[in-house]
Amino acid sequence: MLRKTILTIAMASVSTLALAGHDSKPTANPWTNFGLENKIQSMPKGDPIRGEEVHTQMMCNACHGEKGESPSRNYASLNGQPSEYTIKMMLDYQDGRRWEDYKQANVMVKISRALDEQQIADVAAFYAQQPLNSWSYAKEVDQEMFAKMDRVVRKGDVSRMIVPCASCHGAKGEGNGIVPALAGQVPEYFIRTMKAYQGKHRNNDVNEGMSQFTHKLTDAEIEALAEYYAALGQAQ
Ligand code: HEC
Ligand code: HEC
Repeated sequence: MLRKTILTIAMASVSTLALAGHDSKPTANPWTNFGLENKIQSMPKGDPIRGEEVHTQMMCNACHGEKGESPSRNYASLNGQPSEYTIKMMLDYQDGRRWEDYKQANVMVKISRALDEQQIADVAAFYAQQPLNSWSYAKEVDQEMFAKMDRVVRKGDVSRMIVPCASCHGAKGEGNGIVPALAGQVPEYFIRTMKAYQGKHRNNDVNEGMSQFTHKLTDAEIEALAEYYAALGQAQ
């Protein structure tokens, strides 16, 4: 009951924000590696305790869950995400670098603009401190499919120039710096964002450092990779 009330309040304030915002896309220049590194280094130091306050006071928890593990198939999980990646996403939403042409993404464009750099650094430090688990609602993974995807993840596919996902995202899907953790990610979000990279709606990655690997994946592979990573936890 309480949860439902909080959610209703969150949705109401989000739609107020939505009405207040502008819908035209700002024109931020794409990041260079150097520019991004400088920006991240210039951010204030994050404090996870204040970050938890941001997470609850700004009602991030209504969609992303109490500790950043999304209870819903609609929203991304943020627990265990490296702080640099969260910072980059919030800046990208603010500047319109991350601007996907569907409603879910634009909710974040509006919300990100309510935060200053200190709050972004704090909330990022809070998520980084939360344990990375397999997603609690993940399906049991089919063994044959798991073995196939494990091969793509660890060995890649030379014939399609697909570099092993694990070489960037880590052996346990734990991420590193601006490379996001994938372990425990919500499968619907995973699929949506992979397709957005494929369709070039999501183009905030530096030098197409991620999207280039999506073009030759089939829909079935993307769906299988989503299930694979949703079930992957630190313990495995
Ligand atoms: C109304 C629901 C809602 C609220 C409230 C909300 N978010 Fe989100 N958030 C989303 C959705 C939906 C996405 C995924 C968008 C997509 O599919 O492209 C997302 C994505 C994100 C991402 C990117 C995740 C990734 O893996 O790339 C970050 C970071 C984030 N949100 C942080 C926050 C923070 C911090 C707050 C509070 C200040 C917040 N969100 C509040 C719905 C919400
Ligand atoms: C060369 C390094 C590299 C490789 C290889 C790579 N990725 Fe990524 N990936 C990244 C980076 C960097 C990002 C974040 C880009 C951005 O800023 O939007 C990312 C983002 C993602 C995201 C979005 C996560 C989120 O929370 O929104 C998914 C999903 C993903 N990668 C899956 C994969 C899969 C599956 C593979 C293997 C087929 C793979 N990646 C291979 C570097 C890589």
